[in-house]
Amino acid sequence: MKKNISVLLIATALIFSATAVFAASGSSLFKSEGCIACHNINGNGQGGSVGPDLSHIGSKRSLSWIKTQITHPGAHFVSGTTANINGRSYRAIMPGNRHMAASKLNALAAYLESLK
Ligand code: HEC
Repeated sequence: MKKNISVLLIATALIFSATAVFAASGSSLFKSEGCIACHNINGNGQGGSVGPDLSHIGSKRSLSWIKTQITHPGAHFVSGTTANINGRSYRAIMPGNRHMAASKLNALAAYLESLK
């Protein structure tokens, strides 16, 4: 019984640390994939008003919506038109990352979806 509890504790600790690594890689991908050039998250970014603020993106968009936006933004906002997001107007110029590796796409989208 004691042994079972330690196994459970170790498993729980592993799950927690894996979640932390996952989240960290999502936020570092936000920088390394260039998203930070156009978007801000909680005041971090160089985006100014080029793209919408993503600090609470997970409270309004689903995981699959975010993945599509990353790979094919034109499926949501026709390129070059005006996109109205959060009561503001943006020129739809987000580049599609069609060839982003699935592992990166999953980590980045999961990170954004976690921002409530
Ligand atoms: C050149 C500037 C630019 C870059 C780089 C960029 N975006 Fe965007 N993003 C925009 C703009 C402008 C919009 C508004 C709609 C559009 O253009 O499709 C947008 C919209 C979004 C939205 C929807 C926001 C909402 O509130 O609905 C998400 C999510 C998003 N971008 C994520 C990303 C991620 C993740 C990256 C990096 C892989 C990225 N963007 C790179 C400019 C950019």
